[in-house]
Amino acid sequence: TRRAAIGDLAAKKAAGEPIVMVTAYDYPGAQVAEAAGVDVVLVGDSGAMTVLGYESTVPVTVDEMIMLGRAVRRGMTRPLHVADLPFGSYEASDELAVTTAQRFVKETGCDAVKIEGGGRTVDRAAAIVAAGIPVMGHVGLTPQTAGALGGYRAQGRTADEALAVCRDALALQGAGCFSLVIEAVPSPLAAALMPRLHVPVIGIGAGPAVDGQVLVLHDLLGIHDGPAARFVKRYDGLRERMIDGVAAYAADVRAGSYPGPEHQYGMPEAESARLAE
Ligand code: KIV
Ligand code: NA
Repeated sequence: TRRAAIGDLAAKKAAGEPIVMVTAYDYPGAQVAEAAGVDVVLVGDSGAMTVLGYESTVPVTVDEMIMLGRAVRRGMTRPLHVADLPFGSYEASDELAVTTAQRFVKETGCDAVKIEGGGRTVDRAAAIVAAGIPVMGHVGLTPQTAGALGGYRAQGRTADEALAVCRDALALQGAGCFSLVIEAVPSPLAAALMPRLHVPVIGIGAGPAVDGQVLVLHDLLGIHDGPAARFVKRYDGLRERMIDGVAAYAADVRAGSYPGPEHQYGMPEAESARLAE
């Protein structure tokens, strides 16, 4: 089982094999993703919310994202490893974008970085690609700038908005992105766009016409409290199971039934006799 390469996604697209991507933010999460056989692991800035408890992805820092990325790297070998560049770490200039992307590659060992939006992000993507670092684009709902998009809501539901999403996607492809994420757009928009996109397209709330799907690990496993987006499918309810486990431990401690004999260390008879003197 060799480590995945950037070109594997294009090969899967060409073969018509769906690409499976999931987020991870730590060592066990990466181990689980690899053991489950996913193709791409994204160290998403959604970790700002899922594991760091921020109210949006905006506050998370480069240092925090690098700590998460290093933990993920230690937990897996084979999947393609993509790192989100956080808000404020790449937008202002090509130099900033390249310097930040280089830091992620050097310090986390990621294979590629992901940045959000069209507009000036297109130039940043081209600059990072020119520096030899593969870039994944991200269009549609872009959480780092959700405020400007009218909140966490689907994008491209009017013809004008849909054209803007198409323009961004094509410009990012033209800038050399090896792949695109398209988030929270009507399925007919994604379907209409696909014939013009030659790079692998990973959807989240973009319907079935795309080349693969991504979900946030904590959403699909049900580690979250609170409401989930329409596109989330919940495959487990780990939060409840984790609470039940910790509550059972608490009850055992309070009842005096933990620790049991099997959880205790013994001592040779002679030694405990001396101790009693
Ligand atoms: O941060 C994240 O989890 C993401 C995916 C939802 C694409 O960007
Ligand atoms: Na993200």
